[in-house]
Amino acid sequence: MKLSSWLNDTGTRACDFAKAIGTTEATVSRLRHGRAQPSLDLAWRISDATGGAVTANDFMVRKSDAKLSAVETQGSNGGGDFDGKSVLLIMGGGIAAYKALDLIRRIKERGGRIRVILTEAAQEFVTPISVSALAQEKAYTDLFDLKDEAEIGHIRLAREADIIVVAPATASLMAKMAAGLADDLATATLLAADAPILLAPAMNPHMWAHAATRRNADRLMGDGVSLIGPNVGEMAESGEWGLGRMAEVPEIVAAVSTHLGGIGDGLLTGLHVLVTSGPTHEPLDPVRYVANRSSGRQGHAIAAAAHRLGARVTLVSGPTNEPDPPGVDTQHVETADQMMAAVEGALPADIAVCAAAVADWKSRAPELEKMKKQSGQETLTLTLERNPDILAALSQDPTRRPRLVIGFAAETESVVEHATRKRQAKGCDWIIANDVSSQTGIMGGSANTVHVITAAGAEAWPSMAKTQVADKLMRLAGRHMSNLAQAAE
Ligand SMILES: Cc1cc2nc3c(=O)[nH]c(=O)nc-3n(C[C@H](O)[C@H](O)[C@H](O)COP(=O)(O)O)c2cc1C
Repeated sequence: MKLSSWLNDTGTRACDFAKAIGTTEATVSRLRHGRAQPSLDLAWRISDATGGAVTANDFMVRKSDAKLSAVETQGSNGGGDFDGKSVLLIMGGGIAAYKALDLIRRIKERGGRIRVILTEAAQEFVTPISVSALAQEKAYTDLFDLKDEAEIGHIRLAREADIIVVAPATASLMAKMAAGLADDLATATLLAADAPILLAPAMNPHMWAHAATRRNADRLMGDGVSLIGPNVGEMAESGEWGLGRMAEVPEIVAAVSTHLGGIGDGLLTGLHVLVTSGPTHEPLDPVRYVANRSSGRQGHAIAAAAHRLGARVTLVSGPTNEPDPPGVDTQHVETADQMMAAVEGALPADIAVCAAAVADWKSRAPELEKMKKQSGQETLTLTLERNPDILAALSQDPTRRPRLVIGFAAETESVVEHATRKRQAKGCDWIIANDVSSQTGIMGGSANTVHVITAAGAEAWPSMAKTQVADKLMRLAGRHMSNLAQAAE
């Protein structure tokens, strides 16, 4: 739906709407009359404030609308939101390097300083001179350049960056990073870095799907590196189609913005966020249990993201290999009953995110001693009974319901339909639905592709790292809570 129609239909005044989405009335006026496009971040706030009635797609510019091509990619404060920030861009040798040239422009437009390192292969695709002209800085290419090393050096390049963006991140660069190699300026700088690192992988779908690349991506995410994309789409060089296309520049800019603003920007300050994560283990006897493949990565990332945004966070975690997120009160449980008790003990909360894969069933009577095979026994019958439904219990709690209850739905088919029904059945506010059929690699993997289902409908998010999903979700939740607070005033 067009923003102008929504404002007219709902009788919302531009000044009130501007306040709700944290921008100026002039920006709302330009958006309303199609004279500007919102940044991704602003589009999210608009979607949130309109209950999903107006989405980013409603601002799409048709190629024929040449006069609209002055696209506004600025933040809600009218630009300059990267002021004083230094971005180090590392360009790898892929066709998508040409898109990274635009990334340089967009970061500069927002007031950021951008330094660029090109790998040797990247220089086959774009020239240091064009990079340097756009960045208005020298382009760095050589680890053993005596002049560069004396003037700045790879350690300073790494240390003076507020964030390092690798775009395009080639399969080769990812492999080198995962292995800790440092045999050129790009990899040596990455290894010396203590700033957050954001990778925008770009490669042929077969390269992305290869077990080695999957392993490298997992390892990098385990090392704390964030990934944006890749997206599904057409491959520039081959005309092939699939998962491997570099995230679009506005998506990368939005991810950079998330990282730069993400530390303690207070969107959730003063709120208590309760998160469940991981699987549950339901004992059959003292040594055996029924479990599932949940790794806890998504739930733990959500707890960490909520903490970064200023919330007090309680994480109730089933058995996982994930480390406890720093600054988060983590309570370890094994069974669904224990998780339910810990959740109830942690209330009241302002936001609850039920990301745990809680077993639906438990053994009616777990054996006290280890079960022994009887001679000649060919089958074993287990009697299972229902576990407590934590999401439904929280959503339907008459006195202590958190103001925002978010559930997760892991589905293997008809993802959106099943999740939409689940949202209604449980009574929660949002469901984050994902396809966990084995070919997606989501269960236990580092990336996630989700649909966000609210009362207003379903919105598909592009495939991204679980840390990225977590950041985006907690920002959305933070804005939703601000809107609720404003509406209550
Ligand atoms: C035309 C062409 C396009 C390429 N595109 C990609 C790509 O999109 N992604 C990728 O991982 N490698 C791509 N490669 C292979 C890389 O350039 C090669 O692995 C190189 O060693 C990467 O070096 P770097 O990671 O140091 O930049 C491409 C190669 C050619 C010749």
